[in-house]
Amino acid sequence: MATSITRSPGDPSSFQIFRDSPQLRRLRQQLLKDDQSVGFVPTMGALHEGHLSLIRAAACENTNVFISIFVNPTQFGVNEDFSSYPCTWESDIERLEKLNKEFISSGSPTGRISAVFAPTSKVMYPNLPPSSEIDGDGSFVTVTPLSKKLEGESRPVFFRGVATVCMKLFNVTTPDRVYFGQKDFQQTVIIKRMVQDLHVGTEVRVVSTAREVNGLALSSRNAYLGDRRRRAGCTIFRAFKAADEAYRGGKTSRVDILRAAQSVLDRVFAEQQALSPSERYLFEIDYISLADSNTLEELDIVDHIKGAVISAALKMAPLEETVPNEECGLGDGKVFVRLIDNWMLQAEN
Ligand code: PAF
Repeated sequence: MATSITRSPGDPSSFQIFRDSPQLRRLRQQLLKDDQSVGFVPTMGALHEGHLSLIRAAACENTNVFISIFVNPTQFGVNEDFSSYPCTWESDIERLEKLNKEFISSGSPTGRISAVFAPTSKVMYPNLPPSSEIDGDGSFVTVTPLSKKLEGESRPVFFRGVATVCMKLFNVTTPDRVYFGQKDFQQTVIIKRMVQDLHVGTEVRVVSTAREVNGLALSSRNAYLGDRRRRAGCTIFRAFKAADEAYRGGKTSRVDILRAAQSVLDRVFAEQQALSPSERYLFEIDYISLADSNTLEELDIVDHIKGAVISAALKMAPLEETVPNEECGLGDGKVFVRLIDNWMLQAEN
């Protein structure tokens, strides 16, 4: 297998695709000598507008943008959806080429996508098979206690896998800046902490969440939702809006702020339960949290000077009954879909 290819040599919108690290490192060294900067956007593919907004942000601040596409096995628990995670390689590459054309034709002094790193598992985990077991062997980065909270409570290996693969990717690409979406808020907190604690020479940028018109936060996993459950996506957003309104209206206690969010979720759930199985979507709330945005410690009272983050995870149940020609998404509406989202209760200036 070639370790680096350029799909359309000579086409300025084209970029190199690397399957292994040595040639990518050489490109990086050359860019360093030429005094060019690199912004890095790690992804697991199935690219959507949210990823593109990260790449746009990277192109605004750097001469070169590197993107990785790697579905990282170690961040999936043993019973999670690693083997069925959406893979849309051809359309991902086409989207990136189109975006590069946009950068070129805009005429503004933005950077360009110059490298896509799409390694094999063997490249990323050269010695031992990547383990998703809690006590599995391997060289791992753990960032505790942050990784044990919120998502980490129901997905115990998730952030070990994320921190480990990001560290590896940062080591290969040595970027000036790395770009993450606010949608995965806990991930951003953990990556920032890892970069600080392990003295990684990069700056972490967090880009605001891209949403559908109804408020559903964009995510590759939304492909599993289908039309009916996609409508539910706005539920978390509406719950956050209610909490935000309470906060802006002067409420600072956990009870008041979370009650506002919870009552939206309860109302939507009751409305759906009253519908027939072929019309409704049902969900379980995994958690709603009101926490300090740096430590993720749960708060009883929000300090207006510091603000806070409210975050939630909903587990969308499979559709009980479908109707003819219903668009049910990947997995035909039969799989649970976990939706996570968050909202900042802003600090006073
Ligand atoms: O956010 C993601 O897509 C992944 O967790 C990441 C950062 C690419 C690591 O695999």
